[in-house]
Amino acid sequence: MGTAELVDLRSDTVTKPSPGMRQAMAEAEVGDDVYGEDPTVNALEERVAGLFGHEAGLFVPSGTMGNQIGLRLVCEPGQEVLCDSEAHIVTYEMGAAAVLFGISTRTVVSDGGRLDAAQLVDQVRPHGNWHLTATAAVAVENTHNRGGGLVQPLNQLQALWDWSRQAGVNVHLDGARIWNASVATGVDLATYGGLADTASVCLSKGLGAPVGSVLVASAERIAAARLWRKRLGGGMRQAGVLAAAGRYALDTQLDRLAEDHEHAQLLAKRLGVDPATVQTNIVRLDDVPAPVVAEAAKAQGVLVSQVSDRRLRLVTNLGVDRAGVERAADVLAELLDR
Ligand SMILES: Cc1ncc(COP(=O)(O)O)c(C=O)c1O
Repeated sequence: MGTAELVDLRSDTVTKPSPGMRQAMAEAEVGDDVYGEDPTVNALEERVAGLFGHEAGLFVPSGTMGNQIGLRLVCEPGQEVLCDSEAHIVTYEMGAAAVLFGISTRTVVSDGGRLDAAQLVDQVRPHGNWHLTATAAVAVENTHNRGGGLVQPLNQLQALWDWSRQAGVNVHLDGARIWNASVATGVDLATYGGLADTASVCLSKGLGAPVGSVLVASAERIAAARLWRKRLGGGMRQAGVLAAAGRYALDTQLDRLAEDHEHAQLLAKRLGVDPATVQTNIVRLDDVPAPVVAEAAKAQGVLVSQVSDRRLRLVTNLGVDRAGVERAADVLAELLDR
């Protein structure tokens, strides 16, 4: 089966730039961004910071770098960041906070990734006690990847934020898919941005850019972030060709996330998954013989992600149209006898 016929639902990171995006990249005005002279990067940073109501932004190569620099801005070596045990920052980022920055992470087991502000607050350890590792920050993931794309409840985000202001604890948002949360709920990006000290948002997931994330925060923090990015080897030169893809994605591919969400609903209904558990573009299939089904689906041109021996994950994305989603549903329904 040729790749043109593949229906790839492994992730929303597998999308390829469209002809329009490639043209925008080719036409981008560029300069040396390490000198701060790339007009396209500067415009993108300013635009994304504005969308989230923050003073400044920094274009970074990946969500991982955005998260890790973000954590370093809100936490000193020897202090800890608190997050849920399924968070991307402690599951898929290779222990970076510890390896790179001497930041300790402590996790709480949540209800499927759902934020429970009181549960986290309960675990926070104070500053200035010589027995205890101080909790400098709490990290929140919205939408939650391993939580099946769940949107964090706004009242919990607000409660955490309100508490954090009087407690002197920072909040970092891993907003790799915050766009999906906003499109799904109608809560605007500035509202989410206003409930975090630092936020990393990805252009290379559902938005479909090939590379890039933006870290937003105060101007002072972003000035420090620029140094961390350089130290980590993330200072890029004529990066405007990449930023142009991000700008194009924001112009043309943000609103269409609703289509991915509809496609996820369609898959859920066809595959016997409770549609209420599917809030955005991720569908989890639990209690299935994951390796066998993934292999058999692949043989029929449908690619899915195997999260564990008993769990598969499907992520709708701009590379899979309605016909592709229906074909995947047919193939998987037959394999799963649903
Ligand atoms: C929730 C979340 N945060 C961060 C990242 C990291 O992004 P990147 O792969 O660009 O490093 C991902 C990647 O899938 C993610 O799902």
